Amino acid sequence: MDRWKGRVALVTGASVGIGAAIAKSLVQHGMKVVGCARNVEQIQKLAAECVSSGFSGTLIPYKCDLSVEDDMISMFSWIKVQHQGIDVCINNAGLALPEPLLSGKTGGWRNMICLQIFQVNVFALSVCSREAYQSMKDRKVDDGHIININGMCGHRVLHNADLHFYTATKYAVTALTEGLRQELREAKTHIRVTSISPGLVETELTYRLFSQNPEKAAATYKSIECLQAADIANAVLYVLSAPPHVQIGDIQMRPVEQLT
Ligand SMILES: NC(=O)c1ccc[n+]([C@@H]2O[C@H](COP(=O)([O-])OP(=O)(O)OC[C@H]3O[C@@H](n4cnc5c(N)ncnc54)[C@H](OP(=O)(O)O)[C@@H]3O)[C@@H](O)[C@H]2O)c1
Repeated sequence: MDRWKGRVALVTGASVGIGAAIAKSLVQHGMKVVGCARNVEQIQKLAAECVSSGFSGTLIPYKCDLSVEDDMISMFSWIKVQHQGIDVCINNAGLALPEPLLSGKTGGWRNMICLQIFQVNVFALSVCSREAYQSMKDRKVDDGHIININGMCGHRVLHNADLHFYTATKYAVTALTEGLRQELREAKTHIRVTSISPGLVETELTYRLFSQNPEKAAATYKSIECLQAADIANAVLYVLSAPPHVQIGDIQMRPVEQLT
C-alpha cells in the first residue's frame, strides 16, 4: 500500500457499515480519504476516531446525497479545488427496499425503487466513476483504481422476493464494471476497475431494508456467522495492493456458512 500514501480516495457511503470500515482502513494506510454520505456527523465521529488512533492518513467528511446529481458534481468540484483530484474511487453506497415483483405497485416502484435504489446503486456509481476517471485523466494519473462494491446478488437471483429489485441493480453493477474495464482499455489507460461481491455482511443494510421489522433483520444476521465490514475492507486493500499489471475483475466472498 506504500504507493498510495498521501494520495486521495473517495469512499461513498462512508457513514456506517462497509464504507466506514473501508474509509478507516485506507486512512490507517496513509491515504487522504474523502468520505461522503448524507449523515456527515457519523463520518465526523469516524474522522475523530482516526485522529485519536494516530493513523497516518486523514478522513475528510463531505455531506452528499448521492441521489442528487448536482450534489455529486459539486463534491467533485470541491475535491478538485481542495485536494486536486482523486486517485481511487470506491463506489460503496447502496441500499435495498422490499418490493415484490408480483404485488408491488407501479407508483411505488417509480418513486421508491427507481428514485432511490436505482439512483444510488446504479446512477451514482456511474456518475462517480465517470467523474473519477475525468479527474485522473486531467491530472495524467495512469494508475488510478475504481472499486465497485457489488454483492453476490450481482451474480445470482436469490429465492427472496424482498431482494429482486435490489438484485437487478447489482446485476447492473456487474455489467457496468465490465463495461468500464473495456472502455478503460479502449482509452489506453492503465486505470483499473474491480468489483467486490460479498454475501451476507453484518451492517445496517438489512435493518434499513426491514425498517418496519427490526426482528427480521436481527434474525437474518443471527442465521449464520456473517462477514464483517472489516473483511470487505481487507479485500479492498488486496485489490489496491495488486501489482500494476494485474487487473482483478471481481472478488466473490461469502460467509463460510452461507449456502446460496
Ligand atoms: N450488508 C450486506 O450484506 C451486503 C452484501 C453485499 C453487498 N453489499 C453492498 O455493500 C454496500 C454498502 O452496504 P452496507 O452493508 O455497508 O450498508 P449500510 O450499513 O446500510 O450502509 C449504506 C451506506 O450507503 C449510504 N447511502 C445510502 N443512500 C445514500 C444516499 N442517497 N446518499 C449518500 N449515501 C447514501 C449510507 O449513508 P447515509 O445513510 O448516511 O447517507 C451508508 O453510509 C452497498 O452497495 C451494498 O449493496 C452489502
